[in-house]
Amino acid sequence: MQTGIKLISTGAYLPEKIVTNEDLSRIVDTSDEWITKRTGIRTRHHCVSETHLDLAAAAARQALERAGIDKAQLGACVVTTVAGDKVTPSCACMLQAALDLPELTPCFDLNAACAGFPYALRVVQGLLTDERPYGLVVSAEVLSRLLDFTDRSTCVLFGDGAGAAVVARQEGAEDIHAVLGSRGNDQVLCIDGAWADHTAHVHMEGQPVFKFAVNIIPSCIEDILRAAGRTLEEVDLVVMHQANERILDHVVSRMGLPPEKVYKNIAHIGNISSACIPVALNELYEAGRLTPGLRMLCVGFGGGLTWGGCLIEMGGKEA
Ligand code: COA
Repeated sequence: MQTGIKLISTGAYLPEKIVTNEDLSRIVDTSDEWITKRTGIRTRHHCVSETHLDLAAAAARQALERAGIDKAQLGACVVTTVAGDKVTPSCACMLQAALDLPELTPCFDLNAACAGFPYALRVVQGLLTDERPYGLVVSAEVLSRLLDFTDRSTCVLFGDGAGAAVVARQEGAEDIHAVLGSRGNDQVLCIDGAWADHTAHVHMEGQPVFKFAVNIIPSCIEDILRAAGRTLEEVDLVVMHQANERILDHVVSRMGLPPEKVYKNIAHIGNISSACIPVALNELYEAGRLTPGLRMLCVGFGGGLTWGGCLIEMGGKEA
C-alpha cells in the first residue's frame, strides 16, 4: 500500500471587509431573515484591495511557519481555485516566487471547483517522496469578483478567503483513501470564461445543486469508509464544504452523524468554494482541536459537478 500523508499545520486568511446580510439587502431584494433561514449565512468576507495572490500567500505563509519545515523539503505546492488573478501564470507559480520556494518544487493550480481541497490532497500524496516529504495545499477564492449583484439567488451565498495546509508523508501514515468524482454538467452551476462574456458571473440553479449535494455527500462518505475499512464511529471530525447549512443538516440526519462531530462555520464565511474546508480546518487548529491522531473526514462538492473526499489524520511536525 502507498505511504499516506498526515496533516501537520494549517493557515488561513480572510479579507478585512465583512459584508452582512443587511448590507446585501440594500443592494438586492433580500433580507437577513431569508438568507439566515434558507442558508445559515450571516456574514461573508469580500476583497477590496486584496488580490487572489495576497490571500493565497498569507494563508500559505501561516501554514508554513506553523509547520516549521525546511522549504527545500517541499515536494509540491498546489493551489486550488476556480479563478486566480491571471489565466497564466498559475497562482501556484506566483507563490513559488512570493514564498521563495526552491525552483524544483512542482507548483500548479488545480480546478475541481468546491471539491478542490480533497482533490489536491490526493494529488499531493502521490507527489511526495522520502527526500521531499512535505506538501503545501493552498485553496484561495475571490468569488466576489464573479458575482452578479443583481441576482439575489447567488450573490448572497458566496464570499472570499483562503485556507492552507501542510501535509507530511510520514512513516505509519495511512493512505487518505480519497474518493474523487465528476459528472459533466455545465447547466446547474457554471461561470463562463471572461472571453465568452465580459462580466463572467456565477450561474446556478439552486435546487438541483441542493439535491445533488444531499445525495453525493453521504455516498462519498460511505465510499471512503468502505475503501478505508473504517466505520463512522472511528471518525473524530467531519468537515464538509459549507454551501448551505440546510445541506449539512440533511446529511447529519440522513447519516445519523453525531452533530458534535460535524464542523460548521458557514454563518460567518458563507461559501468560499474550495477554501471552505481548509479555512474550517484552520479554525479547528486555532481552537486546539486538531490533536495528534485525530481522524478527519473532509468532503467537498461543487460545479462540474464534482465531488471529493478523504480521511486524513492529524500528525506531529516530524516526518
Ligand atoms: N432573498 C429573498 N428571496 C430569494 C432569495 C434571496 N436572496 N433568493 C431566492 N429567493 C426567492 C426566489 O426568487 C423564490 O421566489 P418565488 O417563490 O417568488 O419564485 C423563492 O425565494 C424560493 O427560491 P428557491 O430557489 O426555491 O429557494 P431555495 O429554498 O431552493 O434556496 C438556495 C435557494 C440557492 C439557497 C438553495 O437552493 C441552495 O442552497 N442550493 C444549493 C446551492 C449550493 O450548494 N451551491 C454551491 C455548490 S458548491
